[in-house]
Amino acid sequence: MKTLKTLSEMKAWSREAHQDGKTIGLVPTMGYLHEGHLSLVRKSISTCDRTVVSIFVNPRQFGPNEDLDAYPRDEESDRSKLDQLGVDALFLPTADEMYPEGFQTYVHVEEITDKLCGKSRRELFRGVTTIVLKLFHLVQPHSAFFGEKDRQQLEVIRKMVDDLNLDIEIVGLPIIRELDGLALSSRNQYLGEAERETAKSLHEALQQAQQLVAQGESSAETLRSRMRSIIEREGQAQVDYISVCDPKRFEELEEVRGKAMIALAVHVGKARLIDNCLIERI
Ligand code: PAJ
Repeated sequence: MKTLKTLSEMKAWSREAHQDGKTIGLVPTMGYLHEGHLSLVRKSISTCDRTVVSIFVNPRQFGPNEDLDAYPRDEESDRSKLDQLGVDALFLPTADEMYPEGFQTYVHVEEITDKLCGKSRRELFRGVTTIVLKLFHLVQPHSAFFGEKDRQQLEVIRKMVDDLNLDIEIVGLPIIRELDGLALSSRNQYLGEAERETAKSLHEALQQAQQLVAQGESSAETLRSRMRSIIEREGQAQVDYISVCDPKRFEELEEVRGKAMIALAVHVGKARLIDNCLIERI
């Protein structure tokens, strides 16, 4: 596996792959890799000739009171996981090169970034679309792989690709979970033992809502309040949002009819955890 540290190394690698007629798959990450990230990497390797994984803890998507400095990092372990899978190139840009002094250009998707995670994390999506677009330009991938764990992020990226006429296939892949249902996340690292127990309640709440819908419940408010009571039962959990919304526009629903998304963001100790699922009521 090649390690590319500068933007010019990345561009040269990509130029060569294009000249050789190879398809390129890109998996953007912030590192501290787990099976959720690796599922995206495996998919890229199985569908593209060449796979690039980027690791960059993007300072521009963190707010002033968020966990940028504490964000977990382990470059050696990440490198060996990727090497074992057969990744072709690891892209490790520096913040100085990505955002040189005087940097002032951002990409902003409107409307759908105001909802859910965008409400409490104002900097998040503008930072995500800006870095992802920069990566797309540097890597020139044919396909890019993202997890449904961050379903709003996935839809925001799809919107950007669509609106800006980019010729890149965006592949969304299912959430990978622990055996007890907790969605894998680099931020699970922050959880102490008791908090880890509390964290299970996010998935329990989603399952409960799915079950209620299967039994015929259609009131979004009933679903929200049942989920809230499961999460608040724990005492240590602080809800940011509990949403039953349209799966593309993220507007809150009154009644579940057809497809809907259920999404949660909950603070447990130092970790802000998110989870979601799609439901359908016919
Ligand atoms: P990060 O949180 O490292 O996640 C990288 C990719 O892994 C994202 O597409 C995310 O949805 C996916 N992922 C994380 N946990 C997952 C899980 N349990 N199952 C499946 N996929 C999972 O998301 C980011 O980084 C950043 O915002 C980034 C897109 C790299 C831009 O900086």
